Amino acid sequence: MFEEAQLYSPVTTGAGGEVTVHLHDGHPGAHDPGYRRRRNTIAAAALAWRPGDPAPVIDYEAAEQEVWRTVCRELAPLHERLAVREFRAALERLALPTDRVPGLDEVSARLATAAGWRYVPAAGLVDLRTFYAALGDRVFHSTQYVRHPAMPLYTPEPDIVHEVIGHGHLLATPTFGELHRRAGAAAARLRDEASLRFLSRVFWFSLEFGVLVEDGELRAYGAGILSSYGEIEQFRAMELRPLNLREMGTVDYDITKYQPVLYRAESVAEIERVVGGFFDTCTDETIEELRREHAVA
Ligand SMILES: [Fe+2]
Repeated sequence: MFEEAQLYSPVTTGAGGEVTVHLHDGHPGAHDPGYRRRRNTIAAAALAWRPGDPAPVIDYEAAEQEVWRTVCRELAPLHERLAVREFRAALERLALPTDRVPGLDEVSARLATAAGWRYVPAAGLVDLRTFYAALGDRVFHSTQYVRHPAMPLYTPEPDIVHEVIGHGHLLATPTFGELHRRAGAAAARLRDEASLRFLSRVFWFSLEFGVLVEDGELRAYGAGILSSYGEIEQFRAMELRPLNLREMGTVDYDITKYQPVLYRAESVAEIERVVGGFFDTCTDETIEELRREHAVA
């Protein structure tokens, strides 16, 4: 199975200060030297950033802008049909550019008026504790690289398309933005790493890959679905299970493939009650209990 650390390509800094992003062999950009150099440059900018600095301004190249335009163009009609209402309202309210990749400070400025969230740069993996602690303060760690242009349909790693189009719009919604913050507040109560992993899996099967019934239709509210025009076309054909915290918190997942199993809520209210209720009340002890119940089930 894939652990969270494998979602991102590892980033290292050499003795001479050179930053390298290690793309695995199956990555669409693994054998493209130009793409690899680009990834190193963008990761180096994030590593050089310090809190309080403006976010790095990336001068996106034509191929990167084209990926952004393609994804925005392809996703627009799909969002119209398949995204939950709050997400569609956020698309209008934030009015992020669809013809160029926005800067992180630009995203923060739009979110500040909508919901008070702020984007900060991430070179790659941000450890779970740091990532969730920031969510509790309405700060979102975001990568700035763009997926390889050969595969605009899907990316094995969270790129800026995912972070901004998926999460950015969710953060601007009253329900799902607040659920991100509540997940962060929950993580601050957890001491055990196993509890944190459980929380991150519940997050994965809700705020990343959640679907729910709204106006009698199955719609997506997960950032992973809403930012992938390959995935969004598929989700109604996936195996759908009712919300079940024990299962969601313990099921293994593989980010490199489309998710075969999704958890479906019957309403926004059910997400609030089950997932939001879990975020608000979970402790190491209650999670340990859920994990034990799952083991004997
Ligand atoms: Fe995500």
